[in-house]
Amino acid sequence: MLPIPLLLLLSPALAWIPVHDWESGNVTASVSESGQCVCHVYLPKITFPADRVEHMQQVSHDLILEVDIQMNKMISYVGTLEGYLKELSDLTVRVSMLESSADKYIKLDFELLRIELREFELLVSQLKDSLNSTSPMFDSLYIEIRNMTLIVNQLETFDKSNLEVIRLEFAKLQKKLEDCQKDHDVIKPDIGNCNGTGIMSIGKPMVVQLNAHLNAGYQYGGWGKDSKPVRGYESMYFYGAYTSHYIYDFYLYSNYENLILRSALKHHDLPNGWEGTGNNYIVHSNTIYYQHNTPFSMSKLNLTTVKYDYRVIPSASASFSYSYSPHQNMDFSADENGLWVMYATEASKGKIVIAKIDEKSFGIENEWSTTAYKQLAGNAFMACGVMYATRSVDLTTEEIFYAYDTRTNEEKHLSIHFSKFQEKYTNLHYNPTDQKLYMYNNGYYVSYNVRFDK
Ligand SMILES: *[C@@H]1O[C@H](CO)[C@@H](O)[C@H](O)[C@H]1NC(C)=O
Ligand SMILES: *[C@@H]1O[C@H](CO)[C@@H](O)[C@H](O)[C@H]1NC(C)=O
Ligand SMILES: *[C@@H]1O[C@H](CO)[C@@H](O)[C@H](O)[C@H]1NC(C)=O
Ligand SMILES: *[C@@H]1O[C@H](CO)[C@@H](O)[C@H](O)[C@H]1NC(C)=O
Ligand SMILES: *[C@@H]1O[C@H](CO)[C@@H](O)[C@H](O)[C@H]1NC(C)=O
Repeated sequence: MLPIPLLLLLSPALAWIPVHDWESGNVTASVSESGQCVCHVYLPKITFPADRVEHMQQVSHDLILEVDIQMNKMISYVGTLEGYLKELSDLTVRVSMLESSADKYIKLDFELLRIELREFELLVSQLKDSLNSTSPMFDSLYIEIRNMTLIVNQLETFDKSNLEVIRLEFAKLQKKLEDCQKDHDVIKPDIGNCNGTGIMSIGKPMVVQLNAHLNAGYQYGGWGKDSKPVRGYESMYFYGAYTSHYIYDFYLYSNYENLILRSALKHHDLPNGWEGTGNNYIVHSNTIYYQHNTPFSMSKLNLTTVKYDYRVIPSASASFSYSYSPHQNMDFSADENGLWVMYATEASKGKIVIAKIDEKSFGIENEWSTTAYKQLAGNAFMACGVMYATRSVDLTTEEIFYAYDTRTNEEKHLSIHFSKFQEKYTNLHYNPTDQKLYMYNNGYYVSYNVRFDK
């Protein structure tokens, strides 16, 4: 049957409208190459019944309403930007106030400020692109950022307490811009939905900041959020970083702002005999899962009770690590389906084996063998029951090159590129509560939005 297409052509000026999967019965919508929103209405071949026309009219009406909603969003968006602009200029005032004060010169903190400014600039440019806007608002934002960068560069003395205030201001701005960007994403996150065919793309890197030690020498580490938080700890962040692959402590922050302020809620020094290695740890149900040294095993620290436990996985080998760091033998991961650990075995000859952890017994309930060599992978993570393995493309680009679906036992070779801030990283994992990837990128906290195919 040949569909009779009814085209509702929306003005190109409205081309910024998010591409919703507008599928209502026999009406579909898409955006054409020229940026026009095209609505196809498929009509039956023979008859043209009045009730269908009525239905169609209703659908068109709904589409028009949708356009109105998007228009209103655009208007309120401009309003929000004005708000940011004001905040930025307040920030400028604060920075210039610092010019005259203080005595302690902290080189690292200047670098941090510059990085944050660069990141801010990147965010503004992403927003500009996503809106396809030539609004003067963006130009002003750029000028503000440039001015602040100049001021920061000129500063020769600095007050540490004021620096904290500034950092907090930055964090707030970044969070707002991030939220705004999220609102603007073409595909909205659909938390918990695993009905799609898998990861479609990875967003731009969101560089939060240099680690809480404010020291780029702490290259080994990890950060992120609890993937199944207990009540009251939904906003908690974890962090650990070290100058080698050995793990001896963890920090917890009650929320994002405290993470930025480096104001820890708790600091856990791992007691003698419970030290770990490898840095592919995560927090799940208020429990840290990490690789234990002696004996070589998977270990957990229950943060509620501060009790430790471990399980030896006889087949897991300590001979195979990922490419960026030694001793990364066990990689913990959590997704919509629960808790996982990935390792290579002598029997698999170094290829990654996926294992599902039974949380109650803290044992392995199932295993899947992949054909991805662990030593060729940068890291791996689970999302919606699928293992994704990454590798380097060049110094600033990484790719997901392999996927193994534990639901169908099918493997796939892919090439989903994403940018890195720094070349190497020691911890990369997915968090199902916000559908983001968290990366500890050579000392920096970085996160990415993950887009799934619907
Ligand atoms: C879509 O069109 C087909 C064929 O004309 C028809 O059988 C079906 O009921 C329609 N679906 C809806 C939801 O109107
Ligand atoms: C952005 O806007 C310009 C001019 O208004 C237009 O030519 C271009 O096609 C638009 N791009 C997209 C991706 O909508
Ligand atoms: C940026 O700095 C220039 C030169 O110092 C100044 O003229 C301008 O007003 C500043 N712009 C903003 C938006 O602060
Ligand atoms: C996923 O698919 C199942 C069965 O097809 C359906 O019942 C469920 O509502 C879907 N979930 C979401 C979140 O769309
Ligand atoms: C942690 O301890 C609490 C309190 O005993 C318990 O309810 C919870 O199940 C434990 N979590 C794990 C993952 O063992």
